[in-house]
Amino acid sequence: MNLQNRLAGQVALITGGGGEIGTAIALRLAAEGSAVVLGDLDGAKAEATAARVMAAGGQASAIALDVADPSSCEASVAFALSSFGKLTTLVNVAATVIPDGTVETLTLDLWNKALAVNLTGAFLMCKYAVPHLREAGGGSIINIASQLGHIGVQNRAPYCTTKAALIFLTKILAQDHAPDHIRANSISPGFILTERSSKRVGGKDKARLLNGPRHLLNRPGEPEEIAAGAAFLASADSSFVTGTDLLIDGGYVTFKGRMTPEGKTVMVG
Ligand SMILES: NC(=O)c1ccc[n+]([C@@H]2O[C@H](COP(=O)([O-])OP(=O)(O)OC[C@H]3O[C@@H](n4cnc5c(N)ncnc54)[C@H](O)[C@@H]3O)[C@@H](O)[C@H]2O)c1
Repeated sequence: MNLQNRLAGQVALITGGGGEIGTAIALRLAAEGSAVVLGDLDGAKAEATAARVMAAGGQASAIALDVADPSSCEASVAFALSSFGKLTTLVNVAATVIPDGTVETLTLDLWNKALAVNLTGAFLMCKYAVPHLREAGGGSIINIASQLGHIGVQNRAPYCTTKAALIFLTKILAQDHAPDHIRANSISPGFILTERSSKRVGGKDKARLLNGPRHLLNRPGEPEEIAAGAAFLASADSSFVTGTDLLIDGGYVTFKGRMTPEGKTVMVG
């Protein structure tokens, strides 16, 4: 299938665009013809992603962005418009890392930080982007949630709670802005092999061993597999898809057991 021009004429603003999944999404959307604007707390990483997109023949620009800061969110939307003249797609990827802990041990500051970045950040980006998506005649909002917004895990209340809420925010966005021809969907990845996720268990090799078996497909996912879903949700191929959560999780959420080649069921989770 030739997807080279599936997203021609689109302009996508991607938060967390300097991270691994953000970068994979940027490369994929650009390869399909979209211009991409990368925003990241780490401006140098956003610039690096933009450079990779342009080296591959795509159109990109980059800006330092803190999604926890309303004025920075507003400025990033203005920057996207000044870069490419319109906005058709918003991809909220940015999320912060919070240390493990329970409600007893976590500070209120850490809890508030998770809410500010993972949830309010998406709210703010949507707030400033929606008028321009509407002006473009409609568009697509894609929120990167998590399998852990479906199945909670111990010691990660801030992350799991904010991702579950992001899935729900997406459903309401879809309802509120369907009349504007704006579709809103979330993606819930399974364990995706990135530096951020692997650090938690001591590196990518360990993460493969430990987290692979938690999926029916017996392996972690790759950032490019999330990017493929994002490209689908940005494209007209998903023109009748809104208010949904797309699990790209190798079966993590579906089933807590997995059949080994020997026919034994291994319980995971
Ligand atoms: N990797 C996984 O296993 C996995 C699984 C499920 C969901 N996710 C979600 O996918 C997304 C990307 O994860 P990743 O593994 O690529 O992580 P990553 O750390 O590589 O990317 C996250 C990016 O967000 C940026 N960021 C952090 N705070 C920000 C802020 N306040 N404003 C703007 N940018 C900010 C970081 O600088 C980083 O570049 C996250 O939303 C994460 O929760 C990841």
